[in-house]
Amino acid sequence: MSSDELTAAAAGTWKLGDLTVNRMGFGSMRLAGSPDREVALQVLRRAVELGVDHIDTAAFYGPALDLIREALSPYPDNLVITSKIGPGDSPERGFHNATTAAELRVQLDENLRRLGVDHLDVVNLRIMNQPGESLAERFHWLTEFRDAGLIRHLGISNVSPHHLDEAEAIAPVVCVQNRYSLETSRSDDAFIQVCADRGVAYVPFFAIAGTTGTAATAVQTVAKSHNATDQQIRLAWTLHQSPTVLAIPGTGNPAHLEQNIAAAAIMLSTEDLTLLNA
Ligand SMILES: NC(=O)c1ccc[n+]([C@@H]2O[C@H](COP(=O)([O-])OP(=O)(O)OC[C@H]3O[C@@H](n4cnc5c(N)ncnc54)[C@H](OP(=O)(O)O)[C@@H]3O)[C@@H](O)[C@H]2O)c1
Repeated sequence: MSSDELTAAAAGTWKLGDLTVNRMGFGSMRLAGSPDREVALQVLRRAVELGVDHIDTAAFYGPALDLIREALSPYPDNLVITSKIGPGDSPERGFHNATTAAELRVQLDENLRRLGVDHLDVVNLRIMNQPGESLAERFHWLTEFRDAGLIRHLGISNVSPHHLDEAEAIAPVVCVQNRYSLETSRSDDAFIQVCADRGVAYVPFFAIAGTTGTAATAVQTVAKSHNATDQQIRLAWTLHQSPTVLAIPGTGNPAHLEQNIAAAAIMLSTEDLTLLNA
């Protein structure tokens, strides 16, 4: 593939509310793994240059918010930054989960301040999903932040299907962000369709990192036939689950970034998908 053909647009677009994004996006959690700050900035700028217009982040991803601001601000008009609140990390409390409106507001304000914006495009309420856990009260607080103009659209993360019902009874949900890959959380196969039927984007995380090895031989066979890497096939497979799936692979490595974006153009055949799903 020539560098002219390398574009995140190759897998088409889907929507987050009224915002349209390329289905191949970028997750910023792994930027902390870049060999140095300059490489991390280079990865972010190159991602946007190659058509990435959907970046996932969180205040607890080390320097990710600051790197995004330094690399990309003033932000392109079409760039959608999605963050998540719920989990927090502070010197005083360590890693914790916000349980009050005030704690969620502190987390939201940190996102706004470090990104240098007056509102966030999309914010996911990320829950722990313990048995019997309800998200209703916290999601309601997020709607108050939205109504105050601090958030444009709401999503939910690490959730089960009943949480989508619970949230949608309160306000529109534009995305569900869950752990999902060829080899993990396949119980979400049906959930992806539920989301698709309701026009909700499904955004898998750990599409590459969630590798158990059980599908390794099939992945290698398909990768060889496409002259692709195993990781590219894993990403392409997620995009083939539904036109409403948005990929957010994370990397701090410029070469891996280009490979991930190239995966947007991989067309898996019915035979490939049968082999992978077996
Ligand atoms: N909602 C949640 O609870 C939640 C939880 C975790 C993550 N997330 C979001 O989801 C995004 C995706 O998750 P992730 O970044 O952990 O996992 P991922 O995209 O599945 O995989 C990232 C790992 O794979 C490596 N990698 C990436 N591209 C590669 C390639 N082309 N070839 C070989 N290795 C490659 C990365 O290392 P290199 O850096 O060396 O490439 C890194 O170790 C995160 O960045 C974050 O934004 C959300």
